[in-house]
Amino acid sequence: MLKRFTISLEEDLLVKFDKYSDQHGYGNRSEAIRDLIRKSLVKEEWKSDNLVIGVVSLVYDHHKSQLQEKITEVQHKYYEIITSTTHIHMDHDNCLEVTIVKGKASQVQKMAGALMTLRGVKDGNLTMSSTGGDLY
Ligand code: NI
Repeated sequence: MLKRFTISLEEDLLVKFDKYSDQHGYGNRSEAIRDLIRKSLVKEEWKSDNLVIGVVSLVYDHHKSQLQEKITEVQHKYYEIITSTTHIHMDHDNCLEVTIVKGKASQVQKMAGALMTLRGVKDGNLTMSSTGGDLY
């Protein structure tokens, strides 16, 4: 059920918020605010070490010696929290590997860190989300 409430904001903050809302393609202020609240709640779940879901993406050159093996080693170490892995051959040299991880926030972050800091990884990102069924 939707509830209405009124928010008071300084004018310049509202101008910035409307600009943000526009740039991110929100249809109206309410939807933008709902999304910001959900994002904050997801962050809280990560901070409280709850059960979360994350996506780790790595871009690397598969010619780098042993990198592929090291990635596989980390993935096997954390096999219990890995849901799936997708490998895309981007071009002649580069690969994109996306791993979806579900588990306690601290474990997911540890696993993501172990992958992203491997030598030879050109770009590593962890997108943090939440299973939070009651957020939506
Ligand atoms: Ni590849």
